[in-house]
Amino acid sequence: MSRSVRDYVRSIHDFPHEGIIFRDVTTLFADARGFRMAVDQILHAYAGMRIDKVVGLEARGFILGGAVAHQLSTGFVPIRKKGKLPGTVISEAYTLEYGEAIMEIHDDALRPGEKVLIVDDLLATGGTAAASIKLCRRLGAEVIGCAFVIDLPDLGGRAVLEGLDMPVHALCAFE
Ligand code: PRP
Ligand code: HPA
Repeated sequence: MSRSVRDYVRSIHDFPHEGIIFRDVTTLFADARGFRMAVDQILHAYAGMRIDKVVGLEARGFILGGAVAHQLSTGFVPIRKKGKLPGTVISEAYTLEYGEAIMEIHDDALRPGEKVLIVDDLLATGGTAAASIKLCRRLGAEVIGCAFVIDLPDLGGRAVLEGLDMPVHALCAFE
């Protein structure tokens, strides 16, 4: 039987902490067939919808989002962790298991009314994506969806994003 996207994801036990199983997409991205399959499945999910820009979330969302943007012939916009973007930014804080993190976008990266697709490798608690949706909306853009390779449904991210009226598309899930 042919391999699915999920089959290309490597699971690494006890990273970054004991007891955690890290779902590693580097093995998916490193495989020509796997990488193309992931990008094509995202494109298929949004076929026929207007997308003006793809927004990728640091860091693995840059790899996937860049490929999706190229295929769509749209621009690509990065949302980064605090202090990495060189221009004037707007920021959104979100809660981590311990403490707080901040995501940023250049304040001129999106124009009011632009339709954007947010892309990242993995949806866990939804904090990163929720902060990113808020950043895009603050610039007046319309986020038409959030696409992930992996959903970790036990961590509840999908409900968080749906609470922001955001449709979620994930290519696979790991319990
Ligand atoms: C991971 C993953 C998502 C985020 C998901 O990135 O790539 O961006 O966590 O978690 P959440 O749904 O609970 O917010 P990470 O924060 O490890 O950053 P990195 O890609 O820069 O390593
Ligand atoms: N892989 C990548 N990023 C993550 C994971 C994971 O398993 N869990 C939370 N963020």
